[in-house]
Amino acid sequence: MLKVTMIGTGYVGLVSGTCFAELGHKVNCIDIDPRKIEVLENGESPIFEPGLSELLKRNIRSERISFSTNYDSVSNADLVFLAVGTPTADDGSADLKYIFEATRMVARVIKEGATIVVKSTVPVGTFQKVKDIALAETDVNFKIVSNPEFLKEGAAIEDFMKPDRIVVGTDNEDGSKVMRDLYKPITDKGFPLIEMSNSSAEMSKYAANCFLATKISFINEIANLCEKVGANIDEVREGIKTDPRIGKYFLNPGSGYGGSCFPKDVKALIHLAKENDIDFKIVKSADDVNNYQRCRIVDRVLEIYGDDLKGKKIALWGLAFKPETDDIREAPSKYIIDRLVAKGASVVGYDPIAMENFQSYLDEENLDQVSLVSTSMSAIDGADALILVTEWREFSNPDFSEIKSRMNGSLICDGRNLLSKSKALKEGLVYFGIGR
Ligand SMILES: NC(=O)c1ccc[n+]([C@@H]2O[C@H](COP(=O)([O-])OP(=O)(O)OC[C@H]3O[C@@H](n4cnc5c(N)ncnc54)[C@H](O)[C@@H]3O)[C@@H](O)[C@H]2O)c1
Repeated sequence: MLKVTMIGTGYVGLVSGTCFAELGHKVNCIDIDPRKIEVLENGESPIFEPGLSELLKRNIRSERISFSTNYDSVSNADLVFLAVGTPTADDGSADLKYIFEATRMVARVIKEGATIVVKSTVPVGTFQKVKDIALAETDVNFKIVSNPEFLKEGAAIEDFMKPDRIVVGTDNEDGSKVMRDLYKPITDKGFPLIEMSNSSAEMSKYAANCFLATKISFINEIANLCEKVGANIDEVREGIKTDPRIGKYFLNPGSGYGGSCFPKDVKALIHLAKENDIDFKIVKSADDVNNYQRCRIVDRVLEIYGDDLKGKKIALWGLAFKPETDDIREAPSKYIIDRLVAKGASVVGYDPIAMENFQSYLDEENLDQVSLVSTSMSAIDGADALILVTEWREFSNPDFSEIKSRMNGSLICDGRNLLSKSKALKEGLVYFGIGR
């Protein structure tokens, strides 16, 4: 059993902390947001992630996990994880202010021989900056390990407990040993832990996310071209996905990627490359394609109704950046709404889980042309068009005759190619997907 302190109790910190507790370690999760800690102390999860609430409750009951707003537990911890946000700064780089501030606070109370683990996604070389900042605050000996996280929101617990790989970057045997001990219950089941230098570990995370973002943008461009030349992207996907060099994942065309990782990590890698005199063209293009793709579905509405959408009501199914999460950071729905509202439309949105977060966003942005309703079918009442933005399972097999009777218009824009085109057409609806 190791004593672990997790700094930052967001999507990564809370999932990692809870899973470490489940593996038998003693975990304290710290956050500077007192509301999050209050919710957690009441045994609830402040975020939606499948399976997290149950796991959290079980580990709170068995006193393996606790929560606080102060840094007291750091002075006893064998490992202190930094899992705070690394958002995009104005120049596109990763803003490391939360990492550096957390490092200072940790270093002031860290115990002799403890390990600081950087779990946040950080540009190459950050481990050295963390080390320097900590050295300026303390005289005790400590180790620095880089341990980027590869979990996906929506499947985060499964990803953490059964990872494709655990990447550990370290330059010393002690750091490597404590990480092998920490992850032993997972590696004992055959899941690989790969050791490398801190720099390579930091780069691995950007390489993975930017590769996947590029794959999405690639298939989106192929889908756009399919539309022009009369090919069908569904068939084209079948024609390529069994090739093991290509693989079947991240080959779904749609309204672009979003979330708190791909958009910012793509920008941070471009920035890192630029700082090192490299014009990273392929990832820049992936970013450009995504910016275009996010709102491309709105073009269909404009083709049918013209450039002025005043008096038109558009329904949106799905607000979260992807299914099985309440995370709306960089969600394509926001960009689609901005464009619709700019054209004069009113928008009615529905999401199975992300409504509360989205309502806060609408309030902050004063978007009073947008309202939220509590069911998918009430969203389309009197709507001139329906845009499907997030591929939640509950949207996948709707009653098209009910849709037809409840809508004012008959336009369905399927931004994730989730719906059956033939069933929609059979009901007399006008259907547009991406590359279909
Ligand atoms: N979300 C994902 O799917 C995912 C996956 C892999 C990696 N990552 C990376 O992990 C990091 C964290 O991402 P996230 O989505 O969990 O972020 P998040 O915004 O959900 O959580 C970060 C938390 O850190 C807290 N915090 C900030 N400064 C603090 C401090 N000094 N002390 C204590 N708490 C502090 C914030 O209040 C917040 O609750 C990022 O670098 C991200 O790129 C995220």
